[in-house]
Amino acid sequence: MLIDCKSIAQSIDGETVSLLNKVSVKPRLLSLSVRPDDGTISYLKSQKKKADSLGIEYETIFLQNAAELKHKLVEASENGSIHGIFVSHPLPPEIDETEIAALIDPRKDVEGRNPLNMGYLVYGYEEFSPCTAAAAVKILTATTDLVGKKVAVVGRSITVGLPVSIMLLRRDRSATVTVCHSKTKNLGEITKDADAVVVAVGKAGFLTPEMVKDDCIVIDVGINVIDGKVVGDVDRRLEEKVRVTPVPGGVGVVTTSILMNRVVKSALRGEKS
Ligand SMILES: NC(=O)c1ccc[n+]([C@@H]2O[C@H](COP(=O)([O-])OP(=O)(O)OC[C@H]3O[C@@H](n4cnc5c(N)ncnc54)[C@H](OP(=O)(O)O)[C@@H]3O)[C@@H](O)[C@H]2O)c1
Repeated sequence: MLIDCKSIAQSIDGETVSLLNKVSVKPRLLSLSVRPDDGTISYLKSQKKKADSLGIEYETIFLQNAAELKHKLVEASENGSIHGIFVSHPLPPEIDETEIAALIDPRKDVEGRNPLNMGYLVYGYEEFSPCTAAAAVKILTATTDLVGKKVAVVGRSITVGLPVSIMLLRRDRSATVTVCHSKTKNLGEITKDADAVVVAVGKAGFLTPEMVKDDCIVIDVGINVIDGKVVGDVDRRLEEKVRVTPVPGGVGVVTTSILMNRVVKSALRGEKS
């Protein structure tokens, strides 16, 4: 059974459209990308499509190295006509992720990367939480009441797994969270015991039907390009057994909607300050 993520995205877009009516400038998002992989290119295309459909100005700049990226980040932070800055991940291994994140103006950090915004997340403020994590949590809370439920989060990255775990622990959600990673032992037993599984590993077909119980809810965050086709981290046979998000058309569409919503809110805040 597929979870309908498009209707969740539509309701976020609905709020974005009404906010757009309140802002006098055209909100603008700048995406910066250093040597993107296939999955990232596909995500950037969907960002552009969503921005165009909502009437948000959108530009992607492709860069070659850390020096170019840093230069653009400083420029974009100072440019008053840019309301949101997005840096695509993964970054090439030679680039220091923390140094780059710290250069994103926290007020334009629509993807929630700056260490200041990460710190706010720990305090329960999610205005600038990592968008993909926010999307996974949004879908999960729209699908079930999480209080007291066991949730297994597979993956502990700063982009997805770690922030998802922090957000699920917030008192209004109060899930009981187990975070799994590549060194976790008996992972299948942990996922099988969970009421919900969020899988963000980056391996096609990773979560199999044998690893989940019958009434589990599965959020498939993965984006893998196999033979030119986008697939998630879930073995699609899971659809016959439990409720699961589709890929494509799942976490990705909600992520993009949240991102655009934040760009408009950032433009609105800029007008008020
Ligand atoms: N839908 C969207 O909008 C969206 C946005 C961002 C990312 N994604 C996708 O989500 C996936 C994860 O992204 P990411 O940035 O979080 O990736 P990442 O930084 O590579 O992290 C992957 C995580 O998976 C864990 N892992 C790897 N192999 C494992 C195994 N055999 N068993 C258990 N855990 C394992 C790793 O553990 P260790 O920490 O021990 O290495 C790590 O914590 C990717 O497919 C990515 O393309 C989707």
